[in-house]
Amino acid sequence: MVAKVIPVPAFDLVLFGATGDLAQRKIFPALFKRFVAGQMPQGSQIIGAARSNVTSEEFQQTVAKSLKEFLGKNVEKKDEFNQFIECIQYAAVDAFSDKGWDKLKSFVREDTVRAFYLSVAPSIFGEIAARLKKTGIATDESRIVVEKPFGTDLETAETLNAQLRASFEEKQIYRIDHYLGKETVQNLMALRFANALFEPLWNNKHIDHVQITVAEDIGVAGRGGYYDKSGAIRDMVQNHLMQLLCLTAMEPPSQFSSDAVRDEKLKVIRALKPVKEDNIVRGQYRASANDQSYIEHSENPNSRTDSYVAMKVDVANWRWAGTPFYLRTGKKLRERVSEIAVMFKNPPHSIFSDMEYHEGNALIIRLQPDEGITLWTTIKDPGPGGMRLKQVPLDMSFAETLEDETAVADAYERLIMDVIRGDQTLFMRGDEVEAAWAWIDPIILQWENSTARPAQYDAGGSGPEDALMLMHKDGRKWRPIGE
Ligand code: BG6
Repeated sequence: MVAKVIPVPAFDLVLFGATGDLAQRKIFPALFKRFVAGQMPQGSQIIGAARSNVTSEEFQQTVAKSLKEFLGKNVEKKDEFNQFIECIQYAAVDAFSDKGWDKLKSFVREDTVRAFYLSVAPSIFGEIAARLKKTGIATDESRIVVEKPFGTDLETAETLNAQLRASFEEKQIYRIDHYLGKETVQNLMALRFANALFEPLWNNKHIDHVQITVAEDIGVAGRGGYYDKSGAIRDMVQNHLMQLLCLTAMEPPSQFSSDAVRDEKLKVIRALKPVKEDNIVRGQYRASANDQSYIEHSENPNSRTDSYVAMKVDVANWRWAGTPFYLRTGKKLRERVSEIAVMFKNPPHSIFSDMEYHEGNALIIRLQPDEGITLWTTIKDPGPGGMRLKQVPLDMSFAETLEDETAVADAYERLIMDVIRGDQTLFMRGDEVEAAWAWIDPIILQWENSTARPAQYDAGGSGPEDALMLMHKDGRKWRPIGE
């Protein structure tokens, strides 16, 4: 059966911060790919909005250059290249004055889906939202999309929510967490809820623990200013890792609809126990033979910011009591690996009495690289050497199995099309974001009140020793990051 791409209606997408890095590096390439896939209907427009005083033609050239840079030089040879560029308009708009708003208004059309994508600093979300409303550019049907960081704590998140809700209803607000747009993340839901096989085992009776890893090989060079104020806890844990945790731990929603899914995720966040100090490890990379340290990258000699976090998390509900979730994420680790590892318990009784089960079954959901799913199973070691057991992978790589480039579409392609479709399932609801901050805030406060420095780990290594201890003290171990 060949899955069909679900079409979207023609749209006007207004992109604030259109000259910025995210817009040029991610959003325009994602839109171009959807255009080539035939999913951006005739008559759709992308309207760049930013402060620079340039014409639409000049802005089109900027986008053309970025597409070549980020999608490869051959991209301009595609028939669709010029057609796509012609869909782009530009309005020089100032968020803090009336400048440019009339021009912007002249671009948007009646009876066309309107979406406003705010790829700008959160401090101006409220201002832009208010002007969109006041000028009548935003209608009751329009959508507004905002990027992370959505606040730096509960209070700032509440303020942002209030600012957006002053001009838009919750059903119009799309808070992006690009991890939710990753193919495998959605596959996690398909795996759990479209198969009869896994769900009966998906609980504390059969699962020993879950490991969620988002390891990056890059450092913070270039983003030191932002990152030094955020650290891994705000930059990665509060959003991406918590979302992965929610999707793994949530109860089956009654239907695959935005509120049903988000209600269940919210219940998981509300069931999280506060994390005790000895169940959390903060790390910071130090220099290694080929690499500089975090301190050098952040250009802050006294920085106590975490470039690594590992923690043991308890979901206090009927399904998960006694089955911990271990989360870890860090920069400058050995390899770029993101995965959810569901580690099953051993069989209750071994009939192979003189043989040990070294490891139980493990279901590995790989987000990147090479998206796919592996189920580690125990089989008999082949050959006539007696009854010996061995762990082997049942491996599925999406790229190989599906042989279809939509299988590895970029998260932004999927998320932008969902905005146009009006589907909020893969976006964070306001109460979800606030609940996540409410759980994270005490952890950050605990650190801020302590004088301890983060545990050091080698750039290019596996993370701090203390993180190994976090597992060892429970008689468990992390899966290796790269081999
Ligand atoms: C972003 C963080 O949200 O996610 C970055 O701000 C991080 O620090 C990035 O590098 C990781 O995303 P991905 O898709 O490359 O895993």
